[in-house]
Amino acid sequence: MNATQEQLKLKLAQALVAAFGADYTEVDPILVTASNPKFGDFQANVALSLSKKLGMQPRAIASAIVEKLDISDICEPPEIAGPGFINLKLQTSYLEAQLNAIKADSRLGVPTAKNPQKEIVDFSSPNIAKEMHVGHLRSTIIGDCIARILEFRGHDVLRLNHVGDWGTQFGMLITYLREVYPEALTTANALDIGDLVTFYRQAKQRFDADEAFQETARQEVVRLQAGAEDTLHAWNLLCEQSRKEFQIIYDLLDIKLNERGESFYNSFLPGVVEDLETAGLVEENQGAKCVFLDGFTNREGEPLPLIVQKSDGGYNYATTDLAALRYRIQEDQAKRIIYVTDEGQANHFSQFLQVAKKANWIPDDVKIVHVPFGLVLGEDGKKFKTRSGDTVRLRDLLDEAVSRTRADLEARLKEEGREETEEFINNVANVVGISAVKYADLSQNRTSNYVFSYDKMLSLKGNTAPYMIYAYVRTQGISREGNIDFANLGDNAKIVLREDTEFTLAKHLLQLDEVIGEVEQDLLPNRLCDYLYNLSDKFNKFYENCPVLKSEEPVRTSRLMLCDLTARTLKLGLDLLGIKVLERM
Ligand code: ARG
Repeated sequence: MNATQEQLKLKLAQALVAAFGADYTEVDPILVTASNPKFGDFQANVALSLSKKLGMQPRAIASAIVEKLDISDICEPPEIAGPGFINLKLQTSYLEAQLNAIKADSRLGVPTAKNPQKEIVDFSSPNIAKEMHVGHLRSTIIGDCIARILEFRGHDVLRLNHVGDWGTQFGMLITYLREVYPEALTTANALDIGDLVTFYRQAKQRFDADEAFQETARQEVVRLQAGAEDTLHAWNLLCEQSRKEFQIIYDLLDIKLNERGESFYNSFLPGVVEDLETAGLVEENQGAKCVFLDGFTNREGEPLPLIVQKSDGGYNYATTDLAALRYRIQEDQAKRIIYVTDEGQANHFSQFLQVAKKANWIPDDVKIVHVPFGLVLGEDGKKFKTRSGDTVRLRDLLDEAVSRTRADLEARLKEEGREETEEFINNVANVVGISAVKYADLSQNRTSNYVFSYDKMLSLKGNTAPYMIYAYVRTQGISREGNIDFANLGDNAKIVLREDTEFTLAKHLLQLDEVIGEVEQDLLPNRLCDYLYNLSDKFNKFYENCPVLKSEEPVRTSRLMLCDLTARTLKLGLDLLGIKVLERM
């Protein structure tokens, strides 16, 4: 709900009390956006809902409320319509004043949160020695956007990369490398991530097929956990190698993250199990320590245990998440912890969170939110793969988006007979290519699967990054064409609204605040994308209908200000999505 709606709601509530007495203090005035702009901007439906209780005709109730309703500073005189709707129409002068107020505000009217708090966003979180895949790409893009929005709202945000850097996979990999390529374990940069992934695959095959190998690998894990120097050194090298590769992707995507991998919690794992035991939650099951879960059963319909310590003494993914959760609550003092992973992990989250709740580890004022997302599909509707059926390397994927953008751009330049420098072309291709990938992801409701299509995401038409960036470029074109400095339109410059398309645009501009509040709550970035897409659409309609540079004062300056506000809203909104704008493209 935006500031105007809040004010109106308050005034309606006051009018209700004034008309019917203190019993009506808590009654919801049922204020909604008008279904048809012909009837105004908002509609209060409270008269209908009170009819029975008051034993009065809704229209009579509506009149009584309207009589006491003092909104002359915001709205035109209210009208009662149909069976008893109260229609409210914002005053032009009110809208103009609102716009004139936000124009001087670098936050464009979006306040910081009333209660800023510590928020953790756990996102990206790839696994060492494995390649980052499209699932991690989604997590990275969505998590970064959520973090940006929370930061903008003034929260203290900790961006955590919970990398998979611990566990049996290292025993396996190190054992294998000792055999086939020992230099990799002692010399930095002896491996590139591609080799590492191949070795990992081979190691896994050996592990699955060879019992003696399995045993050595297990011992290697024990050595790692006990801190044996050579193993630790080898582990470090492997992590370093992966980290470099991940960083290339983060740099391409302009992502900031703090790495705090699973290994960080290693020393807390025994304490997790001990405390669960003290709480009486642990049962032994075939040598493993388990917590039985409510609402989860295995195929045979028997209750499903969550293993917190395996029979060989090792810990697992869930134990680590329990340790991380406690650390984040106790040490980081987080009030909200947001986990961004594919929805395939939903069970993992509800299971370890159930255990944490049973153990009373989650204080009432701490919110834990799993933000799940769907799969990335190929254009054939199946899981996204290369033509040969391999998983797609993220670097290749991003490179391809950039090179396709470059090809499109070069063709367009040729068509338009434009000459641009290599630097210009590179910059546009990079910004647009990367933005297209991000926007394609963010503009979908994250809970659904989405089809990865270069053609769609790179199109200049539709709800795409190129279209959005182009809308911004268009606004900047106006300032170039008219030789106008948007930042210096004069101290007395004022917005005056005349045409319908101006009103529509103006009202939309004033809703940024509301949209950002919504995304902060429900963590659905696609709402912000929709808002920005509608904004460009409303801007285009305004621009087609209302001459800007050719109109007379004071309309000319007013329209320039609308262009500038649109541009700044686009820029801010896209920035919150992690997308840069261009002055020209
Ligand atoms: N490394 C995991 C994976 O690749 C994601 C970790 C998500 N974060 C967490 N705290 N479990 O699937």
